[in-house]
Amino acid sequence: MTPALSTPTLTGMDVITRHESAVRSYVRAWPIVFEKAHGAWMYDADGRAYLDFFAGAGALNYGHNNPRLKEALIDHLSGDYVTHGLDMATRTKVQFLETLHRIVLEPRGLDYRVMFTGPTGTNAVEAALKLARLATGRDDVVHFSNSFHGMSLGSLAVTSNPVKRAGAGVTLTDTVMASFDDDGIRFLREFFTTAEEYGRRLPAAVIVETVQGEGGVNIASDSWLRQVRHLCTAHGVILIVDDIQMGCGRTGSFFSFEPSGIVPDLVTLSKSISGYGLPMALVLLKPELDVFTPGQHNGTFRGNNAAFATATVALETYWKSETFIQSVDRKNSLATEQLQEQLVGHPDISAIRSKGLVFGISCTDGPTASRIAAQAFDTGLLVETCGSRGEVVKLLPPLTITDDELTQGLDRLAKACILTAQGAA
Ligand SMILES: Cc1ncc(COP(=O)(O)O)c(C=O)c1O
Repeated sequence: MTPALSTPTLTGMDVITRHESAVRSYVRAWPIVFEKAHGAWMYDADGRAYLDFFAGAGALNYGHNNPRLKEALIDHLSGDYVTHGLDMATRTKVQFLETLHRIVLEPRGLDYRVMFTGPTGTNAVEAALKLARLATGRDDVVHFSNSFHGMSLGSLAVTSNPVKRAGAGVTLTDTVMASFDDDGIRFLREFFTTAEEYGRRLPAAVIVETVQGEGGVNIASDSWLRQVRHLCTAHGVILIVDDIQMGCGRTGSFFSFEPSGIVPDLVTLSKSISGYGLPMALVLLKPELDVFTPGQHNGTFRGNNAAFATATVALETYWKSETFIQSVDRKNSLATEQLQEQLVGHPDISAIRSKGLVFGISCTDGPTASRIAAQAFDTGLLVETCGSRGEVVKLLPPLTITDDELTQGLDRLAKACILTAQGAA
């Protein structure tokens, strides 16, 4: 049974503000105590329902408490299968690896080995950066403007946001930033082709998000990605695709890079790979980059077996046929049509970007986007803002959302935009 809050005079939010560190963030945007969640919905203690177009920042592609995955988790626990096992071989891990290979990697012709890292995205990014540096013997990693790769020091060094970087408290080194556009391609070409002539070392790697989630839903074109791949291949630079937020179907294919036809050397996955919102992260690596000696990179929570159990069932349930991913495509069309109808021409909105089920509503400025997100919360919709100035309202509904819920959520967003404009007038 859930224990009652112990201090009768304090509300749940009072407890948070009194005891939790000032670094807390989402709770400031949504200052209520959530109690339950199911599918695309979250509920507060009074039973008020919120449509969740945030989906655990991309960790809940299959919705909250997905019944199929919940059953897998309950079976795992009630069967006394191993829960914690570092990187020991367990039945559940064997099942996950076999399923990932059979359902995801083999059909796509991808010859990757799997490295389990500590269970958060930033652990996978750290491992990928270390692998690239070890394999090449070089130091620098190129990242792009508006990139986001996590908050530990290595990942932060390839993250562009100056506020986040400033939080490091130390100098972040051995990285180079290129712009996330055609100038970036020109820069890479110049850098790679003249490195030797100017006595500079090539970088170890380029790390890229095909769609920048935190950076503002900025979408790299397939041809842009192919040019990056081509330059890296031509100069022996390792290409890392960080698919932590955009992988597992978010952009309309299991891996976000699939439509471009590129094959990255290293791929990071986390967030929705467990399917149930349980911590899990991994790096996919080409066999020739499998260069860590045993235990050279490790972590106590690499073997989150409960997450392996839900991840296996997520792959079996949603990825054995094309039906699920076709539904993502169809919902993109449905939502795009509605967004065009309701928001194009709105004075606060300058652009709408989308791929699969990630949408970026670019507003005139950050404060306007924040007001729209706050108004959306009042109308019962959870959305966050992103972008270098917080000027983009980001929509990440669960991929399993029904058409009706999607339409309802977008109606709430349109209402929030109208109310925001009226409030400002
Ligand atoms: C592209 C990308 N990489 C890395 C991370 C870091 O993941 P985590 O917060 O689990 O460390 C995130 C988190 O939002 C992300 O979007």
